[in-house]
Amino acid sequence: MPTAMPFYRRPLARITTGALLAAAASVSLVPSQADAGERWLQARSMPVAANKVMVAVTVQHAKLPSRMVYVSNLQGKIIAQGVLTRGGKALVPVSVRPGTATQVYVTFRHTRARLTVPVSTTARYMATSSWRIINKVNGVNNAYTPRVLTQMAGVPIDKRAGAPLQRLLKDAARDGVKIYGSNGYRSWGWQRSLYQSYVNRDGRAAADTFSARPGYSEHQTGFAFDAKAADGRCSLESCFAGTKSGQWLAKHAAAYGFVVRYTPQNSKVTGYEPEPWHLRYVGTWLTGYLNETKLPSLEQAFKMPAAPSY
Ligand code: DAL
Ligand code: ZN
Repeated sequence: MPTAMPFYRRPLARITTGALLAAAASVSLVPSQADAGERWLQARSMPVAANKVMVAVTVQHAKLPSRMVYVSNLQGKIIAQGVLTRGGKALVPVSVRPGTATQVYVTFRHTRARLTVPVSTTARYMATSSWRIINKVNGVNNAYTPRVLTQMAGVPIDKRAGAPLQRLLKDAARDGVKIYGSNGYRSWGWQRSLYQSYVNRDGRAAADTFSARPGYSEHQTGFAFDAKAADGRCSLESCFAGTKSGQWLAKHAAAYGFVVRYTPQNSKVTGYEPEPWHLRYVGTWLTGYLNETKLPSLEQAFKMPAAPSY
């Protein structure tokens, strides 16, 4: 799991065995699964912005009669919906007032299975999220720092990305690809000096295509890692994509819960030139979902607007 947030799961049998059996007559669900207490339904929520939480649903049920997933409020009113992928995942966006906490229900068609999921955008809850969107319209303030940092490949990163990154680096090395870190966590002030140095050198418009303004860099979250090849070739340059390291990362980073965040496919959404070295940790649930859906950006997965400019 990508974060420390609890993973809410409950066997269907405990919730609605009766309802399921009733439904089974018409929709041929498999009651034995429920009777065996199989955990076919899981859901959890992750804040992605100050007013938005994603409800991530996983269904392992070969015979669920509909691919639709609904999220309703405590009054039972449907407030959002999503569609399960073939792999049984749905990502349902829910609007939540900033700084508040409530609960929602996850429901389906044709079965009365219902899961209660807490959703919240309180600062404490936001800090648990490795899905927070940082782009040109969603930033963090100058006080924002990762909760706990760890040192990996010579750079500081959020501790929750530490072990997955360590595994990635080890497996890459095993494949003969030695990867080092060139950037991890960067503070607001550090980002400000960096961005300003590019503005001074290239002008603001050009700088905005490859460097984030202070408060708008994923590096401030601690979930971003810039990879560098052992020989330093093409370091932080577009030709990194063609190096052994760049190719290895493009192929394997997702297996460790990292996305290559800025690609040729999503530059219109992010407003950045491709950065084949810039990894963002989101966990393997989401990288699996992205691989399955072929959605080219986090913004599209979260149904958030493109953010090509400030
Ligand atoms: N280079 C990326 C966009 C950053 O500055 O965060
Ligand atoms: Zn970066």
